[in-house]
Amino acid sequence: MKTNRRNFIKAAGMAGTGVVAGGIASCAQKGTSAKEIKPTIWDISEDKGAQVFNMSGYAAPKLDVVRVGYIGIGGRGMAAVKRMALLEGVEIKALSDLHMDRVKEAQNYLKERGMPEPTGYADGSQELWKELCDKEELDLIYIATPRDLHPSMCVYAMESGAHAATEIPAARTLDECWQLVETSEKTKKHCSMIENCVYDFWELLILNMTRQGFFGEIVHVDAAYISNQINTNLRKDLEWRTREFINRDGNIYPTHGLGPACQILNINRGDRLDFMVSVSSNDFTMGKEIEKRAQEDDYYKQFIGQWKLGNMNTSIIKTVNGKTIDLQYNVGNPRPGTRVFWVVGTEGIAKKQPFPSRISKGGGWVNEDELK
Ligand SMILES: NC(=O)c1ccc[n+]([C@@H]2O[C@H](COP(=O)([O-])OP(=O)(O)OC[C@H]3O[C@@H](n4cnc5c(N)ncnc54)[C@H](O)[C@@H]3O)[C@@H](O)[C@H]2O)c1
Repeated sequence: MKTNRRNFIKAAGMAGTGVVAGGIASCAQKGTSAKEIKPTIWDISEDKGAQVFNMSGYAAPKLDVVRVGYIGIGGRGMAAVKRMALLEGVEIKALSDLHMDRVKEAQNYLKERGMPEPTGYADGSQELWKELCDKEELDLIYIATPRDLHPSMCVYAMESGAHAATEIPAARTLDECWQLVETSEKTKKHCSMIENCVYDFWELLILNMTRQGFFGEIVHVDAAYISNQINTNLRKDLEWRTREFINRDGNIYPTHGLGPACQILNINRGDRLDFMVSVSSNDFTMGKEIEKRAQEDDYYKQFIGQWKLGNMNTSIIKTVNGKTIDLQYNVGNPRPGTRVFWVVGTEGIAKKQPFPSRISKGGGWVNEDELK
């Protein structure tokens, strides 16, 4: 079999891990030939998957006004409409959701601020968003729908001639990752995963200091997404969230931690993720919580025995240049939220959490006054 970039990853055994970062290029089953590993996700033809254009660093033609359409005006989508309304050079042209009241709320919000009313697309049908893509002249389509819908919506958006931006995670399987990469290369449209944690103040400060050599050579990053979501993930009005955890284990939401770590380590810009060992604890809370709720509310009966995600997942990743990442994921225990983010270099370290965030050049933390 000719090796292309798709089957190279598959042969290396990444399939089914739950980590979907585009930078992972091989994995731990060293000594195992591609033929010995049963294809798990997709069949690959000889020439499928070859790169047709390199989108890394590609600058699309400049636009004076960016015409934006939204798919999904729930919690995240509405907040994004409000943020986008603050930007100059942006016109919000169209909004789509299953529920007209959500579209109306966003239309009213914009109208009250003197902005033109965007066209609304909502009649309860699952596919109406395609009309938004087909009929409107849009430069960017922003997708804030449940996670399983992101890949097909991104692909359709790019094929309709717009750049795509999607809430995280952009995809849930390697096959979906490749669909996004290949469509982006084919259409020369950007497909941006909106990983907001990469742009936090501390993460950008430490990235800047790293690039200026303040910490010497970076050796290791500790990263995490730890957040008590016991209630959120069982909310009836967010049933799609509960369904995310049915028959899935591993780290299914890796990018809040992994994104900033990959920036620091120059992943896909001089280094790349090489292999990973990922281990989950059992679930000790969510299955029991579902059973408890089911005693008082029949709605939860459908999920009894279905929750598969272990409470605590720990993944150790090594890069080709010999650096390591410790990536933790825990959303099922009552602990304070943290993304940890410790950056360890040969000449110093930085830690984000627990707060206060600090740096050290050895021999204790630099105090707040010195930090300023
Ligand atoms: N980056 C972050 O920090 C962050 C935080 C929260 C959520 N998210 C992500 O944002 C996304 C949305 O989360 P949310 O909390 O806003 O969920 P939500 O349920 O509040 O919103 C989703 C919206 O999509 C709409 N929708 C569903 N199917 C649709 C379809 N076929 N066509 C059009 N609209 C459809 C729903 O009606 C709903 O209004 C998720 O992918 C989630 O992972 C990211």
